[in-house]
Amino acid sequence: MNNSIIFSFPGNKVFAHLLAKKLHVEEGDLIIKRFPDGESYVRINSAVRNKIVILFCTLNNPNKKILSLMFTAQTLKELGAQKIILISPYLPYMRQDKRFKPGEAITSQLFAKFLSSWVDYLITIDPHLHRVHHLSSIYSIPVLTLHATTEIAQWIKENLKSPFFIGPDSESEQWVSEIAELLKAPYIVCSKNRLSAHEVKIDIPPFSSTNETLILMDDIISTGSSMVAILKQLSLQGHNGICLAIHPLLNKKTKNNLLASGAAAIITCNTISDSTNKINMLDLIATNLEKILGTI
Ligand code: R5P
Repeated sequence: MNNSIIFSFPGNKVFAHLLAKKLHVEEGDLIIKRFPDGESYVRINSAVRNKIVILFCTLNNPNKKILSLMFTAQTLKELGAQKIILISPYLPYMRQDKRFKPGEAITSQLFAKFLSSWVDYLITIDPHLHRVHHLSSIYSIPVLTLHATTEIAQWIKENLKSPFFIGPDSESEQWVSEIAELLKAPYIVCSKNRLSAHEVKIDIPPFSSTNETLILMDDIISTGSSMVAILKQLSLQGHNGICLAIHPLLNKKTKNNLLASGAAAIITCNTISDSTNKINMLDLIATNLEKILGTI
């Protein structure tokens, strides 16, 4: 891939390096630093004129990254980049997709507007689509939405016996039902009432399980409250469960809390680098990026 170059943001180096190697894309040198007063410093230390630039930056903790991303994208354009493709395996600001209370900012739309004006193309994995059904309804640039379900199903097939899926809420059904179908496995979906960021009430529909591996499956684990609420009820019935999510937004405290509440393991995809990463998204991204580069 002569005409392309890939730059990685801090925390994305390993994935971006493997991707560059796999597709024989040049790796660029991008320096992102912070001044003592908190301002961002950006330097693009490789030639980009007339090149297709791939920026690899998963956007967990978005507020810490977004200004550097904007400065980088703008500078790339000033330096003559032909096109900028952003790969953000985790796409943030998707959950505030309506004005739940008067005066609230609909940040999914606003964030989409900003990103669409900085880069030319977006590749992401399983964004939290709920009231917004397609990213194209809020993003004005071409977006490729990839799905981790096949990789997840394959990993489960190779590593776990007799899966039985539990989705914490109606939104999780899209992932749970698809993976269950791929594995010909049973599933149930709970109903969830979120009282606050850290407090949820979950009703688990009646189910019977004997030797199955219970897998709590969601797109995101953040505070862990959704999964903890299920795990606690399961343990009263003498069960434990495996927590599986696409995007690990969780911290150490959350992991400990999940394990203390009866999680037999926490399994995630490497859309965000974390010690719980077991399911690799490299091939999924590489195959699709290669196709896109072939058409530009
Ligand atoms: C929201 O609807 C998402 O699908 C997840 O269920 C949610 O983000 C999980 O959050 P937490 O881990 O904080 O319960």
